[in-house]
Amino acid sequence: MVPILEMNNIEKHFTGVKALKDVSMKLHKGEILAILGENGAGKSTLMKVLTGVYQADNGTVVAFGNKVNFQNYKQAQKVGISIIFQELSLIPHLNVWENVFLGNEIFKFNTILDTNAMKKITIELLATLGVDLDINEIVQNLSVAEQQFVEIAKALSVKVKILILDEPTSTLTPQEVKYLFKVMRLLRDQGVGMVFISHHLDELYEIADNVMILRDGITIDQQPIKSLNKSQLVEKVIGRTLGLDFPKREDIDKNTPIVLDVKNLQLSKSTPKVNFSLRKGEILGFFGLVGSGRTEIVRAIIGADACYHKEIILNGQAVSINNPAVAYRLKIGLLPENRKEEGVILPFSVSDNIYLNNKDGCFINYQYMHKNATDKVKLLSIKTPDVNTPVVNLSGGNQQKVIIARWLSTDCDILIFDEPTRGIDVGAKDEIYKIMDELTKQGKSIILISSEMEEILGISDRIIVLKQNKIQAELPKKVTEAEVMAYAVGGINDN
Ligand SMILES: Nc1ncnc2c1ncn2[C@@H]1O[C@H](COP(=O)(O)OP(=O)(O)OP(=O)(O)O)[C@@H](O)[C@H]1O
Ligand SMILES: [Mg+2]
Repeated sequence: MVPILEMNNIEKHFTGVKALKDVSMKLHKGEILAILGENGAGKSTLMKVLTGVYQADNGTVVAFGNKVNFQNYKQAQKVGISIIFQELSLIPHLNVWENVFLGNEIFKFNTILDTNAMKKITIELLATLGVDLDINEIVQNLSVAEQQFVEIAKALSVKVKILILDEPTSTLTPQEVKYLFKVMRLLRDQGVGMVFISHHLDELYEIADNVMILRDGITIDQQPIKSLNKSQLVEKVIGRTLGLDFPKREDIDKNTPIVLDVKNLQLSKSTPKVNFSLRKGEILGFFGLVGSGRTEIVRAIIGADACYHKEIILNGQAVSINNPAVAYRLKIGLLPENRKEEGVILPFSVSDNIYLNNKDGCFINYQYMHKNATDKVKLLSIKTPDVNTPVVNLSGGNQQKVIIARWLSTDCDILIFDEPTRGIDVGAKDEIYKIMDELTKQGKSIILISSEMEEILGISDRIIVLKQNKIQAELPKKVTEAEVMAYAVGGINDN
């Protein structure tokens, strides 16, 4: 069968970085091709070259039998190639349907905007995606997952023959991923060829036909995904073997002191009271579906958002925490879920971003700042030419590592990690679990919010399951996935 897309010996460099050295791939009609590679391997860059966002320095692209050289994304879309970008590209102050058709508006008689048609198609697209969204809602009021679905609807609003999905699932819950896969299978049956980028191996095995492995800007292999098992796949990706085991953790003794006690926390007058405690050296997992209140509860604890009522007892003393700066002085830090809005400052350098929390007062210790940043870049294998590079030039996963580096540079005793490994590659994830384990051995305590069941079960000492702002269950670490899920979706103890 003749491929619908061929990329041959693609090269692309940026100042100081050769992102793509020699990349080739083929995609056929109705095929789902996974691209797998470490953070900074060049996946997003390759897809931007394909869609005309960047131009290659060398190499050829053949789409539907014709040699092409798109100068911008619009030209790619015209021949039926659409991309869902890794970093969402929606306009926050426009509503859902306006975003879906932005740049691709439908006109009546070539002059008047056909708003009814655009609204109707948006409703249909969202229905196919299985999401219940008000099409007139302003995008900035939506959750990250909801925005992701708007982005997907936007990509599907034009007639697509090739669809690229650059880490669409990193912000989605398992349930939402299921919907997305349903849509992908539907598109596959219609003959659409898809490129799917994700760091979740299970997802790749579930949906992809073939996998292309990219290591440091070079194609290592393209073959049927089922011909490789997990460890073979990981070995090809990182170039070495990796035990896919979580650190073995000792049980937390019942007499270990409680460092944080949260009592009667209510987000609003009508929401249930939340009570839990965290012991010294403990990793407490918070699991729940989107909308379960995990992020809202931890934001309320550190005073990032107001809440109706809370009592916080820190090392046995009642404290009042009205804003994150107070929390930080009390040595409680939150690594936020939405890295673009609350995490990194894109135009700032890697070292500025890592130092950010230490800027207490007006004195900056440049020597420390540089050394610490260099150490952290090494510790977390952050792929960057140097510590002075602006974070905007880093790949998505490496930006996330910068935020982790920032919090590792503080002397917080309690660290709250909200989806810390989102978009992080397999090798680096493993490193982060080891670091978390190490931090608790130093006496620090961690609350881990994660939508990844494997991670929650693998590293937590105890698991709190939330649903609709309520603690459904507090489970020991030896619990099964099915039990945790049963509490998260309701059914057990649901009254
Ligand atoms: N606009 C840019 N300017 C300079 N360097 C860039 C730019 N875009 C990407 N890079 C560099 O190119 C390399 C590849 O980045 P890319 O975003 O393609 O990685 P990726 O495989 O998508 O990683 P991730 O899994 O983290 O998303 C990285 O070293 C990155 O820092
Ligand atoms: Mg990327």
